[in-house]
Amino acid sequence: MKFFVDTADIDEIRDLADTGLVDGVTTNPSLVAKTGRDFIEVVEEICKVVDGPVSAEVAATDCDTMIEEGRKLSKIADNIAVKVPLTRDGLKACRTLSQGGTMVNVTLCFSPNQAILAAKAGAKFVSPFIGRLDDIATDGMGLIEDIVDIYANYPDFTTEVLVASVRHPMHVVEAAKMGAHVATIPPAVMTAMFNHPLTDKGLAAFLADWEKTGQSIL
Ligand code: G3P
Repeated sequence: MKFFVDTADIDEIRDLADTGLVDGVTTNPSLVAKTGRDFIEVVEEICKVVDGPVSAEVAATDCDTMIEEGRKLSKIADNIAVKVPLTRDGLKACRTLSQGGTMVNVTLCFSPNQAILAAKAGAKFVSPFIGRLDDIATDGMGLIEDIVDIYANYPDFTTEVLVASVRHPMHVVEAAKMGAHVATIPPAVMTAMFNHPLTDKGLAAFLADWEKTGQSIL
């Protein structure tokens, strides 16, 4: 399972990339706006910190302008994945961009039907927003299960399921159980994944007992 970090904050990205466990980054207009920085500049910087796919979203809503923006964004770095919304125009733009060799992440997916369209449009990634479905008392993880099951029926579907709008570590665990390819994880959630109280307790006990031996390894 690939772990992407879901933020445009370069310090958060550097901090987590330092673990060697970050396989990519996803941004969106809201995450970029939060940084208060120039969009192209921050994406350029992110692409230098993380080798894996870095998603940068178009702002246009019509196909032709999405394609133009997508081509501009893809020139920033080889690891750019152009994000387009799961709309009719977004799917048309995805088809053209992906046929031209651009990685496309089709975002704002909320139904299996949309995920089938994204795969048919040649998306590299489809981003189902599970947290936002949970937020309206709809089964977000059920959507992931449906998409993974549907995609498994069609070997020619090469689109990777990129679980997004992750709210807590159990979303990542459940997505992994279902065989989702990627989870894009907010920094706070990824940090929480590193911590377990019983590991801390057990380590403290080991170190206390080691201390009693008076020995050192080095
Ligand atoms: O990658 C999509 C993600 O940033 C959306 O998360 O919490 O706004 O639903 P959220």
